[in-house]
Amino acid sequence: MRQVLWLWCCVALLTVALSAQAPQNPALAGVVTAPAIPDTNPFASEDDVRAGGALFQTHCTYCHGASGEGGRGADLTAGIYRHGGRDPELYASIRNGIAGTEMAPVRVSDDEVWKMVGFVKRIGSRGLLEKAPGDPAAGRLVYQKSGCVSCHRIGEDGGGLGPDLTDIGRRRGLKFLTESVVAPEANIVVTYRAVQVVLKSGQTVTGIRLNRDDLSIQLRDTRDNFRSFMMENVQEVRYDKPSLMPAYASMNQKNLEDVVAYLHSLQGAQ
Ligand code: HEC
Ligand code: HEC
Repeated sequence: MRQVLWLWCCVALLTVALSAQAPQNPALAGVVTAPAIPDTNPFASEDDVRAGGALFQTHCTYCHGASGEGGRGADLTAGIYRHGGRDPELYASIRNGIAGTEMAPVRVSDDEVWKMVGFVKRIGSRGLLEKAPGDPAAGRLVYQKSGCVSCHRIGEDGGGLGPDLTDIGRRRGLKFLTESVVAPEANIVVTYRAVQVVLKSGQTVTGIRLNRDDLSIQLRDTRDNFRSFMMENVQEVRYDKPSLMPAYASMNQKNLEDVVAYLHSLQGAQ
């Protein structure tokens, strides 16, 4: 018991001493609080970058493509980052994942995250790997004529039923963009899953599911209105048409390439 008390005294004294010094000495402040993310990558040797490449193959290519060219995930070959390109920023994106997107935190050690930061920077310094074959200016017209505007916002213009496309060119790779247009059902944006609510009155309301609990279900209908239904009035909740976007499967090859080139060119406000 006496030993425990002694130990407690030591810890208390040390804490007081450190916190008293902390304001003058930033290095000690780091000791008291959580360790800060270093400003430069401590694992950036050639061997580390190579190890980072192997880790990337295992954990990241499913979304970012075998060479980082993107797909479900962002194109990492451009060296342009929405969430910051400094070492600690890339570290944070990979360590913690990116909230509100499909990119989840990765389950590897901190050292391994640093090795991947080195690899990601390496592929980002090589310049854009993917060049869209189509013509973005022609694609803009295809976009306007095909009614995309009614459901998607670019900058200030357009409807709100589908995701904002202002910086879609940074978030998704070419293959994914093409698929999004011809076969939207293949990759549904998680926060835009469609639902059909069949009411006991016989009416069916279609929209994007916002929330559901035991008592009620909320959705945004196809006219962009917020709707809420008590489950006691609901006959059935169906998910048979999971995307509200029509498939543009019959679009000719040239128009498709052009519209994808246009989407690829949308890099957000600079
Ligand atoms: C399930 C799919 C998925 C996986 C797996 C995934 N990512 Fe991502 N990643 C994304 C998406 C989607 C984005 C774009 C997020 C957004 O909207 O900004 C992204 C963004 C990023 C960014 C930020 C790019 C920027 O513009 O700032 C980095 C860096 C990144 N990923 C690296 C990785 C690494 C390294 C791995 C492997 C450990 C990985 N990702 C695994 C889907 C994924
Ligand atoms: C009736 C509304 C509607 C129209 C018209 C429409 N979309 Fe969509 N779009 C959606 C919805 C809803 C989603 C989200 C569900 C999904 O992923 O399928 C979506 C998803 C997308 C995505 C994926 C976005 C992401 O973040 O991954 C792209 C790209 C896209 N649409 C492009 C287009 C283009 C190009 C056109 C015109 C040729 C078009 N859309 C027409 C409603 C629409």
